[in-house]
Amino acid sequence: SKLPSSKQFAQKNGYRFFMEKEIYEQSDVVSDCMLGRVKNNSINFDEIDESILDGINEIKICACGTSYHASMAATYLFERLSKVKCNVEVASEFRYKEPLLTNDTLFIVVSQSGETADTLEALKMAKNAGLKTLVICNVDNSSMTRVADATILTRAGIEKGVASTKAFSTQAIVLWMLSLYFAKIKNSISHDLIKKEINAIIQVPKVLIVENKLHEKTRRLSKRYLHGHGFFFIGRDVFYPLAIEGALKLKEISYLHAEGYPAGEMKHGPIALADPELFTIALMPKNTLYDKVKSNVEELSARDSTICSISPLEFELSDDFIKTNDRDHYMLEFFEMLVVLQLLSMEISIRLGNDVDMPRNLAKSVTVE
Ligand code: G6P
Repeated sequence: SKLPSSKQFAQKNGYRFFMEKEIYEQSDVVSDCMLGRVKNNSINFDEIDESILDGINEIKICACGTSYHASMAATYLFERLSKVKCNVEVASEFRYKEPLLTNDTLFIVVSQSGETADTLEALKMAKNAGLKTLVICNVDNSSMTRVADATILTRAGIEKGVASTKAFSTQAIVLWMLSLYFAKIKNSISHDLIKKEINAIIQVPKVLIVENKLHEKTRRLSKRYLHGHGFFFIGRDVFYPLAIEGALKLKEISYLHAEGYPAGEMKHGPIALADPELFTIALMPKNTLYDKVKSNVEELSARDSTICSISPLEFELSDDFIKTNDRDHYMLEFFEMLVVLQLLSMEISIRLGNDVDMPRNLAKSVTVE
């Protein structure tokens, strides 16, 4: 029988792994994701309308894995920009905690595949309880899109790497745009601020273009970092969920022990682990709580942890320094640091000889409980 045309399959196009290709594709897919949704200093989603917030006092988000991390970051944005109370839960926890569901809550699920069993069940629970539901999803006509009242597609294209990359960046951009769309409906922030945010949003595709020198730097660091006994990824504000995502990437494909932690929480326990074999990857953006993170990192450095700072600003106490570009919005720093973390875990994984795209014990989509 005739073989299907190779065009029907995702191709690596010269990249070593799908994950690498997908990291490099992020700039393009995020542009696609913004297409028609950002125009004339305003955010529009044709697939939903302004009545979505009628009677809503709260947003609840449910997701798993990487999608959960994007959702966590979104809670900061919905409260800060839309001024709507927002919380997030891991779907497998939500399902069995006997949650109190009231119909002044907009229930959002975030999923690359639209098929993750726990997230799907959480969505059904909310829907059965009479809540308004919205799914942010990469796969059209997936189970979740068939259940939810409304769908926003992330347009990331097929993601082959089990470790999610471009699905995350498109989810993050959708959630940021959505927080501004809600801000407009609720008139919660000034027009000037909305304009400023949109101005930052349209720069994201540029920020996501992988710079050779950044990739090279992560490749060089990977030589030593593959020997790390343990990693703490730390950050504050949206850089806390980003830190957890960075740690998850490293765990997934390098099988190294890594934890993401809120920088300010290290002193309440984890700092007891600090020694030179403990690698701290510190996210030190210039535009959010720089001095606070800096003092958290100083404490770790004083206890001899090996520090790798990712920042536009040089930090004299760091052993290694990945210099990011000087950006004028914390979310632009968020996307740039995301790429650094993805590349770092991929380079370590490659050097360890692992199968980057098909890590042991993991599945692309978990459709059983
Ligand atoms: C699996 C994948 C992860 C993914 C998670 C949630 O564990 O390995 O990469 O983040 O499922 O998947 P979803 O399709 O719901 O985003």
